[in-house]
Formats: sequence, C-alpha cells, structure tokens
Amino acid sequence: MSRIIVNTLDKKSTISRNIYGNFSEHLGRCIYNGIFVKEDSGIENVNGMRTDVVKALQNIKLPVLRWPGGCFADEYHWKDGIGPKENRKKMINTHWGGVVEDNSFGTHEFLEFCRQVGCEPYINGNVGSGTVQEMSEWMEYMTFDGVSPMAALRAENGHPEPWKVKYFGVGNENWGCGGNMRPSYYADEYRRYQTYVRNYGGNKVFRIACGPNGDDYNWTEEVMQIAGRYMDGISLHYYTVTHTWDKKGSATEFSEEEYYKTLKKAYYMEELVTKHTQIMDRYDPEHKVGLLVDEWGTWHDVEPGTNPGFLYQQNTMRDAMVAALTLNIFNEHSDRVVMANIAQMVNVLQAIILTEGDKMVLTPTYHVFDLYKNHHDATLLSTFTETKEIGTEEDKLQNITVSSSVDANGVIHVTAANLSATESCPVELTLLGKYGGKATGRMLAGDRSAYNDFDCPETVQIREMGEITEKDGAYCFTLPACSVAEITIA
Ligand code: AHR
Repeated sequence: MSRIIVNTLDKKSTISRNIYGNFSEHLGRCIYNGIFVKEDSGIENVNGMRTDVVKALQNIKLPVLRWPGGCFADEYHWKDGIGPKENRKKMINTHWGGVVEDNSFGTHEFLEFCRQVGCEPYINGNVGSGTVQEMSEWMEYMTFDGVSPMAALRAENGHPEPWKVKYFGVGNENWGCGGNMRPSYYADEYRRYQTYVRNYGGNKVFRIACGPNGDDYNWTEEVMQIAGRYMDGISLHYYTVTHTWDKKGSATEFSEEEYYKTLKKAYYMEELVTKHTQIMDRYDPEHKVGLLVDEWGTWHDVEPGTNPGFLYQQNTMRDAMVAALTLNIFNEHSDRVVMANIAQMVNVLQAIILTEGDKMVLTPTYHVFDLYKNHHDATLLSTFTETKEIGTEEDKLQNITVSSSVDANGVIHVTAANLSATESCPVELTLLGKYGGKATGRMLAGDRSAYNDFDCPETVQIREMGEITEKDGAYCFTLPACSVAEITIA
C-alpha cells in the first residue's frame, strides 16, 4: 500500500504549460511526412500540414514547439527556406542520413504549423556556422512591423503582417555539433549574437543560451558567470540511453532488468536539474533565468531495417513511464524549469506520434501528455508519498512517482505512476486542508513492452478508472503494475 498526502494549503510554484513542449527537427521523417506533406498527396492537410497530427496536438494542448533543430539548427541558413518553393536551395542534410533537404518547409511553413496547432514557436538560431547578421535578420524578417529590408522581403513572400516569436535559442549544443566550443568562448559568442536579436514593436524576445550536456556542470558555471545577465533562459540536454551510445538496446525487446535500468537512467534527471539549479542559484538567486530542458527522452536503437540516420524507434509503456516520472520531476522543479521539449514530436526518438503514409499512431508517451495536460499553468501543491524500493540489485528505485496541482478553478489534479513491472499498488490519497469533493480518474496501463502500431493502434489507451471509493477521509484506488493515472478532485 502507498499513501499519498497532498497539502492543499502549501501552494508552490506555477507549473508552466511550456514544460509540456515538444521538439521538431529536420531529421528523418519528423518534418517531411510527419507533419508536412504535399498538398496533393491524398493525405488530408491544410496548406500541407497534416490534419490528423494537428488535431492530435490540439487535443493535448501543445503549448510550444522548438524548430529547426538540434544539430540541424547550426547548419541551417534560414534564407534557403523562404520564397517560391521551386527556387529554394536543395542541400544535403549532412547530420541526418545525408538525404536531400529541399527546404520546402521553412520559416513561413513552421509558423503556419504553429498557428494551426495554436502553440508558441521556439526558433533555434545558428551560431555554429551562421553569422550575427543572419541571426539578426531572421528576427527582423519574422517580427519587424515597419519599413525595413527584411519586412519588405517577408511581404514579397506573401506575409506582410509580422509574426510574434517569443522564444529564440542562440545556438544548439555548441559544446558539440554546434561548433565544438569551450564554455568561455561560447559565452562570449552568446553575448555578441544575442545583442542583435532585437525586440521589435511588441515582440519581446526570451533569449535562450546553449546550456550543458547532461552533467557538464562546468559549462553551466562558466556560461552563467560570463553571460548569465544577458539571458532569459539556459538549456539542458539529457537523453535516457539504457546501455551505451554504441549499443543502446532495442525499443521493444527488453528484459525486466533492462526496464528498471532505463527508468533508473531517466531518474538521473532529478539530480541533473537539482545540481544545475544549485549553480544557477549562485549567479541568479532571484530565478530570473529559467532552465529549459529543451531536449529529453529515450534514445534506443533504431527499428531494424530503417535508416540509422533517421532515429526512428517504437515507443512502449516503458517510454510512457519515463515520460511520467520525468514530467513529475519537472513539475516539482517548476520554480526553475520553465520549459521542456521532448525529443522529438513525430517519428524520431521518443515520439508522441508515429506516421506512415496516411496512417497515424498515438504512442503511449502521447497518452501521458494527455493525462498530464491539466497541470498546464496550475499551481504545484506540496505532496508527500510513501513509497517502497523496487528494481534490481543494480538499479533500485522507488515504486511510485507523483505530482499534484490546483488549477484556476480550484480543481486538484494528481498524476501518479506505479513503476513496478509486476506488482500493483493500492493507494490511499488524502488531501490536507480540503474536505469533500468527488474524485474521478483516467489511467494508462499495460505490459511494460506494450505498444501501438499501424496494425493495432489502440493496444495502449487511456481508460476511465472505475469508482474511486472513500474510506476514513481518503480516496482509495489501485495502480496496476506499469501504469500512470490522473486523479481529479473537483
Ligand atoms: O535529437 C537528436 C539530436 O540530439 C539533436 O539534433 C541534437 O541537438 C542532440 O544531440
């Protein structure tokens, strides 16, 4: 049995809806076929944007989408992706499979996609191989409302009205694919580039510096020290790799030991966020600078027979549990974590959506985003959870992960996952400071390696929980093995 005690009187930080963001890169079939198709492809679309994908993203209230990369961002020259499609430059996507990138999806298309979904764009600029002028002109092109060369070019290309672009990243992984820089060098480059990323009219830019790779605490230290006062946010990238980068392990075929190993590796996010926050606290005690975990998720071996450069992997209940525990960690750290972007939205890595031709599958990870959507912009509540140790000798972890919040209407939402692969867990949930209220629940449960595919798209689905009984002031329900639930108390 596990006891969850939610103290409704102890209100903490606001859980930014942007924690539930996604990431899209010109990589494999994320953009092309994943979200963007030829208008005459026979796949239902509006201006090339897949209607099925747009609707699925609207359902989870996708708040923000990062684009165009990733490593692709520091090789991307935005002017290649504007103007008449037949004139756009065809280039090699050197990072991802060496395929031809025809630039048919560029700035206008990305912003149109965000408009259809109703999410905020987060654009990542090029520091590694781009110029200061190029970055400056990109912001002018998108947001300047008046007489200027870039505003005129935008109008010539069919969009006289400026867009609003709040989130802008100054480089990606500049410690690696974004230029192999040292932190002090990058920090100076960051200061220079961001100077020319201007606020035009009412568009106030939230400038994001490239942050560390996992536990590279020295990177955070130096970049915060040198450039902390010039940024609104700093990013963090961490991927859950079960074994090694050379042999990561299959997405669908894994043992119980490997299941726990993956979850243990995912839990490392707690330590990373805590320690990077401690460093940031020294330079920014008032929490003016946000931490954006703008790439996270599982990275398994690609599906057999697929292009290794496309990073296409299936998505099981194990991935759903990684999402559940990670999102709970972000909620708990929402006083510093202001955005997170799972990698990647469609057909790449821990995708929430898979597509094949005109078919679409919602993965178990998608359903976790659905179960957690009521946390968007809600207030985190202090929560105590009684747990027990599970796992293997090598990879021990606690069985239950929880977070809870109260929304603007006073409704309480508790997301709880039982990470045990084999044992169900009866739960007693008590609210301190609030009496009465009916509890209802939705749940995702399945075998640890269950997944949805194009033949069986509904193997793993959210279902309503049966009656939640009340006993001595506590709500009682059972979390089956390998399950995640949202309990709502109105
Ligand atoms: O998401 C795949 C790649 O992982 C991104 O392009 C890069 O930023 C990271 O290394």
